[in-house]
Order: sequence, then C-alpha cells, then structure tokens
Amino acid sequence: MQEQRKEPILIDGKTIASTIKEEIKKEVADILDHGQRPPHLVAVLVGEDGASLSYVKSKEKQSQEVGFTSSVYRFPATITEEELLQTIDFLNNDDEVDGYIVQMPLPKHIDEKKVIAHIDPKKDVDGFHPINAGRMLLSLPSYLPATPCGIVTLLERANIETAGKSCVVLGRSDIVGTPMAVLMSRKGMDATVTLCHSKTKGLKEICAQADIIIAAIGKPAFVTEDMVKEGAVVIDVGIHRIKDDSEKGYYVTGDVDFENVKKKCSYITPVPGGVGPMTIVSLLTNTLKAYKKEIYK
Ligand code: GUN
Repeated sequence: MQEQRKEPILIDGKTIASTIKEEIKKEVADILDHGQRPPHLVAVLVGEDGASLSYVKSKEKQSQEVGFTSSVYRFPATITEEELLQTIDFLNNDDEVDGYIVQMPLPKHIDEKKVIAHIDPKKDVDGFHPINAGRMLLSLPSYLPATPCGIVTLLERANIETAGKSCVVLGRSDIVGTPMAVLMSRKGMDATVTLCHSKTKGLKEICAQADIIIAAIGKPAFVTEDMVKEGAVVIDVGIHRIKDDSEKGYYVTGDVDFENVKKKCSYITPVPGGVGPMTIVSLLTNTLKAYKKEIYK
C-alpha cells in the first residue's frame, strides 16, 4: 500500500498577527486609562509608488486599530534631499512623535543611506539606522527590522524548533536577508545559518539539505519542490502580482512554488496571509517600545 502524504501545517500569520494586535490594543487602552497620550507613529511617504502607497495606508489603518495616533507626511517625488532631511530634523525634535519610518524606495536623486543615517536611532522603528543594525549584530537592545522580526515571532508562536537546525536564507538585502541571517543564528534561535545570494554556487543542493528555508529572493516561485527536503519548514517572504486572464487580472504568489513545495513540507507560510501580516505588527511592537522607552532609556 502506498504511504499517504501528510498535509503540511500552514503557519497562519494572519491569526498570529491579530492576536498580537489585540495584546497591543489592550496595552494602549491601559495607557489611556492612566490619562496618558497614545503612542504616535508617523510614516513619511515620498512620491506615488503604488506598493509604497498601499503599505503606508495599511500601516495607518492598523496603527489606528490598536489605538495609536497615526500620521502620514506626504511629499511629491520632486522634494529635494535637503527638504527631506529638514523634515527628519523636525520629526527627531517633536516630543509627540515616538517613532517614524521613511517609506522606501526614495526617488533616485535622494541618497537613501544618508536619509536613514539622519533618523534619530531612538525613533527609528524600522530598525534601519546603522546604530540599530550594529546593536542588533551585538545582541544589544535595538529596534529589529520589521520583516525578520515578524518571522522570528512567527516561528516562536508556531512553536517551531530552530535550535541546532540548518537554516538557509535566500537573499541578502539590507532589510530582510542579512538581518534575518543574523537573527536566526543568535542565541535563542540557535540555528546554523547559510546565507545564499546571486553568486552562490550549488544553491539547489544547499537548499535541499536545509531544515528551514527562508525565501527572500524577490523572484516569483523561485523555490521549487526539488530544492526542498522532506519535512522542511518553508517561510516565504515574497509577494508578487502575476498578470493572468482571471477577473482580477492577476494572481498573487510568493518566492516559493507553493502548490508543489507544500507536499514536502512540515510547515509552510501561505502568500498572502503568512509573513506579510507580521511585518506591520512588528512595526507596531517597535512603536510601543519607543513610546515606553524600552530600548533607549
Ligand atoms: N519598503 C519596503 N519595505 C519597507 C519597510 O519595511 N520599511 C520602509 N521604510 N520601507 C519599506
């Protein structure tokens, strides 16, 4: 008799994120009961990039849902670097603003690294400032970048064992892959990490040996069945809209060929509804920490 394949467990980011949002909401209600002002998160949005607009809208909506004050500073793509830096000075000095993010990408004429370095690390709830990145590397208290932080929380809340496991991170971006590799190898997570990128040789074979694969490579359905070990845990960071003939005109996929890969996994995150919802929740968590001055006293 042929052995029946077990279905993988879907890691439900949507439900985990909404549980955490409820926890934050309770804390904010408690703050208000004590007659204090709510935490205040600001997003700075430059230009009209569609994805950025929708991220910022979602951040605004979810901030309000947990009881935060939420503001968006919008500027045309023609804003000069100097004007943007002045806005950042203003936010750094505004005592009513606990944390803020500058939505990326910025227009080509603005130096993103210069802008990030101008943010007060105490208000850098994206965890992008070199001081926060350095503190993370040294396991000092810091704001952790939202997506990797969300994935760590997802693994913890889904009770997935990471200690001593081999973990392959695909992609070495500043905001996902690189910090993800650091966090997975840190005390507490204790995985043995391989960080793969465009120059990696034998990528398929490396992936096929991994207990945990975290795909943040930015290519639709890049991770295929033959790259995944039986029983592996697969975390999909990608989100891509692919045009098709459906009514909507597109379908959404991640960096993983979900339908085929899922047959081999013990756990897998869906797209949408896996990593995505956790990202904004991590930003809310960081903002609450900024309000309570938990990282920088
Ligand atoms: N663009 C894409 N993701 C992010 C993010 O997490 N923070 C900011 N500021 N910009 C982004």
